[in-house]
Amino acid sequence: MHTEQALALLGGLTPSQFMKRHWQKKPLLVRNAIPGFVPCLGRADLVALAGEEGVESRLIVDSPKGWKMKHGPFPRRRLPPFSQKKWTFLVQGVDLHDDGVHAVLQQFRFVPDARLDDVMISYATDGGGVGPHFDSYDVFLLQAHGQRRWRIGRNKDLTLQSGVPLKILQNFGAEEEFVLNPGDMLYLPPKYAHEGVAVGECMTWSIGFRAPQEGELARELLLGLADEAFDGVGDALYRDAKQLAVSSPAAIPSSLSGFARQVVDKALKNPQLLDSLLGEYLTEPKANVWFEGAQAEPDLSGGVQLDRRTKMMYDDQHLFINGESFKVGGRDAVGLRQLADDRAISGHTFKILSTDAKAALLDWASAGWLKPV
Ligand code: SIN
Ligand code: CO
Repeated sequence: MHTEQALALLGGLTPSQFMKRHWQKKPLLVRNAIPGFVPCLGRADLVALAGEEGVESRLIVDSPKGWKMKHGPFPRRRLPPFSQKKWTFLVQGVDLHDDGVHAVLQQFRFVPDARLDDVMISYATDGGGVGPHFDSYDVFLLQAHGQRRWRIGRNKDLTLQSGVPLKILQNFGAEEEFVLNPGDMLYLPPKYAHEGVAVGECMTWSIGFRAPQEGELARELLLGLADEAFDGVGDALYRDAKQLAVSSPAAIPSSLSGFARQVVDKALKNPQLLDSLLGEYLTEPKANVWFEGAQAEPDLSGGVQLDRRTKMMYDDQHLFINGESFKVGGRDAVGLRQLADDRAISGHTFKILSTDAKAALLDWASAGWLKPV
């Protein structure tokens, strides 16, 4: 990814300029972000996806009796007719199901993969939307079909309405308003209040991000450390040759609390373990992701390409793929990092990998994580 190249996608900004000026800071409206954009998925494809088991979808109806929300899957008969106004259905993780959508997501890889989440696609009838709200994560809202009117504002008051099945701001104050046409895009930083209302039938793609939450990440890493601790820390017993006779036997000796702190410090001391747990956590496939294994031994000599569902990242010492970590160095590290960054390598790069690395790639191909080009 060239970080210094001006992109139509970012309204003529380079990825570096966008990240400095807008990312996590302020909105950006881009007219014609993808000129002549024609979505690779139509209404019928989206309806079909919303009907599938294992695909996360929601139906939101703005009815005279208030907001209604249901979770999918939705057989066609569970969706209102398209002649009815003010309803929308939203399908999460469409990039996992469609190569074309996955390809569009790749254009946003000037942001680290560790922060990319998925592409959610919504389809709405006239007047449909999810109400005024804010999201916790950054989002690019790409207009794919029809028009949507966006109203946005820096709401100081983020109080939500109570008694409604979705997050709706109690006091939404819009500061700006734009109607987006196909190919236009709006970037919003986290917590920026917004409301998108369909003007006629409309389809919107949300390129969404994720950010680890302090407590959740700490819990995840500590659980991993806990698994390793029993064998990793050692089996020495607490010794107290200097223990004096006590008159208050119920009091816990301070040397024992010191010992407790010491063993926890010891468990945390291995920085590489923490790094590998982080990489495994970040590349863990979502719960609804599964891979179809290859039938025959694949021939990778012509090059390798990652499956769209595969998550692959690396750090200085490790390579991570779909929740597993491998220690790599030398030429293997160069080739495998290239595979993670480009999501493909040539036959030449494959050929110069070590026998071990080639064997690992064959295993991953058999698991359906990657395939021959
Ligand atoms: C939508 O596409 O209707 C919702 C997107 C959003 O407001 O985040
Ligand atoms: Co939103």
